[in-house]
Amino acid sequence: MKHVITLNELRDALDSLPRPLGFVPTMGYLHEGHMSLVRRAAEESASVVASIYANPTQFAPDEDLDTYPRDIPRDKAMLKEAGVDVVWIPTTEIMYPEGYQTWVTVEVVTQPLEGARRPTHFRGVSTVVAKLFNAVRPDKAFFGQKDAQQAVVVKRMTQDLSYPIEIVVCPIEREEDGLAMSSRNTYLNEEEHQAALSLSQGLKLAQTAFQSGERDADALRQIVIDRVNAEELTDLQYVSCAHPSTLEELEGDVETCLISMAVFVGQTRLIDNIVL
Ligand code: PAF
Repeated sequence: MKHVITLNELRDALDSLPRPLGFVPTMGYLHEGHMSLVRRAAEESASVVASIYANPTQFAPDEDLDTYPRDIPRDKAMLKEAGVDVVWIPTTEIMYPEGYQTWVTVEVVTQPLEGARRPTHFRGVSTVVAKLFNAVRPDKAFFGQKDAQQAVVVKRMTQDLSYPIEIVVCPIEREEDGLAMSSRNTYLNEEEHQAALSLSQGLKLAQTAFQSGERDADALRQIVIDRVNAEELTDLQYVSCAHPSTLEELEGDVETCLISMAVFVGQTRLIDNIVL
């Protein structure tokens, strides 16, 4: 596996890679969720490029950029073991050189849910993903369903900016106890970890109700709210029952929906979702 830093090194490394090229962008501190994207990329592509970059523009000043977990040697070993051909680990000087002032904004699907609580987040995500796409020029790029709104935003941007890239969204990877895998799970102590199980348990309860015929958006939201609020250590930010691709909040009977939520467990903000 080649480790490249600069854009020139990346270009040279890309020249010799057979196509189709699969790309897995990450912010590092890799876990099974990332590795499932890498495995899928390897299955569906002749070469795989991964990037590791904790993109500062998608963190608000009061968020956890400074404490975001990092372990580049471990990440590199995991990517190498999984058969990645090139890992690109750019610096902020490369991604946002002095005087940087160009942004990609996706206007509508960025407004609700995470966008309503993190107003600058998706501008940072769509800008960095566009820059990563421009540099790597993959045929396919792999994202996790865990960040459901991010997947919708990236698909919209890819279509709107005419990138010839197929966006592949891979299922959420969970711990055995149901907790959705996230680099931020490392912040949780044992008690918080137990409380955090209420997210996936709430979603499971909503799924069971849906499978038994419950179709009312309010009732589905309430099932999740009740389960999460039953825990003392949780502080629910939102539970949404929205259209899976427009992300419009739904009322009344639903045929299909994305139930998603953000919850503080102690100081740690967790998200999770399910499509019914
Ligand atoms: O999902 C992530 O890890 C990040 O948002 C991404 C897509 C790598 C952009 O920084």
